[in-house]
Amino acid sequence: MCGIVGFTGNSVAAPILLDGLSKLEYRGYDSAGIAVRDGDKDFEVVKAKGKLKSLIEMTDHGNAVKGTCGIGHTRWATHGEPSVLNAHPHASDDENVVAVHNGIIENFQEIKEKLSKSGYTFKSQTDTEAAVKLIDYYYKKYNLGPVDSIARAMMRIRGSYALCVMFKDYPGQIYTARKDSPMIIGVSDGQTYVASDVPAILKYTRNVYYIGNLEIAKLEKGSVTFYNIDREEITKTLTEIKWDAEAAEKGGYEHFMLKEIHEQPKVIADTIKSVVKKGRINFENINLTDEEMKNISQIYIVACGSAYHVGMAAQYVIEELTSLPVRVELASEFRYRKMKFVKDSLVIIISQSGETADSLAALREAKENGIKTLGIVNVVGSSIAREADNVFYTLAGPEISVATTKAYSTQLVAAYLLAIGFAKAREEITDERYKELLDEINTIPDKISRILEDKERIQWFSAKVAAVDDAFFIGRGIDYAIGMEGSLKMKEISYIHSEAYAAGELKHGPISLIENGTLVIGVNTQPELYEKTVSNMVEVKSRGAYLMGLTTYGNYSMEDTADFTVYIPNTDPLFAGSLSVIPLQLLGYYISVARGYDVDKPRNLAKSVTVE
Ligand code: M6R
Repeated sequence: MCGIVGFTGNSVAAPILLDGLSKLEYRGYDSAGIAVRDGDKDFEVVKAKGKLKSLIEMTDHGNAVKGTCGIGHTRWATHGEPSVLNAHPHASDDENVVAVHNGIIENFQEIKEKLSKSGYTFKSQTDTEAAVKLIDYYYKKYNLGPVDSIARAMMRIRGSYALCVMFKDYPGQIYTARKDSPMIIGVSDGQTYVASDVPAILKYTRNVYYIGNLEIAKLEKGSVTFYNIDREEITKTLTEIKWDAEAAEKGGYEHFMLKEIHEQPKVIADTIKSVVKKGRINFENINLTDEEMKNISQIYIVACGSAYHVGMAAQYVIEELTSLPVRVELASEFRYRKMKFVKDSLVIIISQSGETADSLAALREAKENGIKTLGIVNVVGSSIAREADNVFYTLAGPEISVATTKAYSTQLVAAYLLAIGFAKAREEITDERYKELLDEINTIPDKISRILEDKERIQWFSAKVAAVDDAFFIGRGIDYAIGMEGSLKMKEISYIHSEAYAAGELKHGPISLIENGTLVIGVNTQPELYEKTVSNMVEVKSRGAYLMGLTTYGNYSMEDTADFTVYIPNTDPLFAGSLSVIPLQLLGYYISVARGYDVDKPRNLAKSVTVE
């Protein structure tokens, strides 16, 4: 999705803006632009289609643009094709107001029609231009200054937005406002920064303010003033971001994805340690009591993409350890379903970014229905983290690669811990089983390290199959859920058509797609289902499939069926997904590298999907 950076201070703004935008490249974009102001001179606006590199070259790394106050943007096209004309910043007709915007203004046509009647003209196809000109319209009509004009525009606009606005009459100042689109403000050493995402400003400051929904902020050199939509001044407290700047750098790896795959043992251990103290689960930080866990009668897990796949795996674990029925729902579907919630249910929203528009809407839907909500979230202070009744923070640190790996793995472990916590609080497992599960969960980081030590075999296999057009992932139970994630990893970064099927479903249609050389990956780690899945693997093999088997050490008979076998260490079958997903992440990664794609920034995708 789009990215925003803004700066006002004593340093030259353009290099800071470009540096910040480069840290947001991972979010996905198709054009970029900056607007900078030197004192009270005119705005200098520079925009370029395509990679940020063009903008950097056009401005000599920002050095050719004078001024200490400016805003920048990377655009991911929604309204209007990727082009210089549609790239941000956009300006009012007389360049009185210049702004950048993330989100979608739903009623932009209606606003355009209204403004056209007042003589405004429109150059681009964007919804943003309508917002900029609406602010200019109110600014001139009421003559009550920037905060007033932005507040009036906010009341008129429907949709989601994070806006950074500069006014000709207010040199050195940037005004920001947001609704359902993230934005943070950082202050350090007399300089002020604003960004849509933490990595953009992490290098300069870790002390940030979170601007709330329907709030406005005035940024000046080294200070910020906040207002509510009624233009009343409000106070905010600074929050320290614990992530360090290095965590958002590649650290010697060729790609962020590979670095993040290797970080998994550490971040999983950190996430476990955050709630397991002295051999017992303690949900004090999450604010979840045993009493509350006892009284829950049904769990809904709602999420998108990989986070949804975590929910799919978690469903099997929670249902096996507790008597709680679990429904796993895609947030984009859930939010529009006319369903009756079961009394005393709990909605668990899983989201790395905490800003996914559909997941946030699902959370609000649940709250409006009086249902208790719990977020499993990675980004501290994100919208879902702030709005959920309870938050279980995963400690994955900044995840830059669009294809999630470490955030997925920490979410999965968080879900196991919740399952065990629920089972214990509800007295549905014995003390012995509780201890056994906690001992086993603590072995996951080391077992992942062992799998990573053997990554060259997967690299070799990936190069061998990199030219395939189609791939199928099959498995049963937890293995099916992990296959879904493996399949997404492959398709999103390798652009190979890939599907995951419950192995038992093959005969109901998909098996007709298997022909000579079709790549099939059989995930087979669950002892109770092993023979059944082997049978399904034999079925595809006998129809010409090229077969990779993924199973636990000891199941060596797999080699009688599969063309290539990957083994993972033995663990409790409930946790096998945390191990079996690792070779699948590596497979997706190495195939993408072999095909020569931009692994960290796959086409058409954005790291956090803040629009519907
Ligand atoms: O930030 P979220 O966890 O809410 O994001 C959900 C999905 O957009 C995300 O998992 C997406 O599917 C990733 N590209 C998968 O690698």
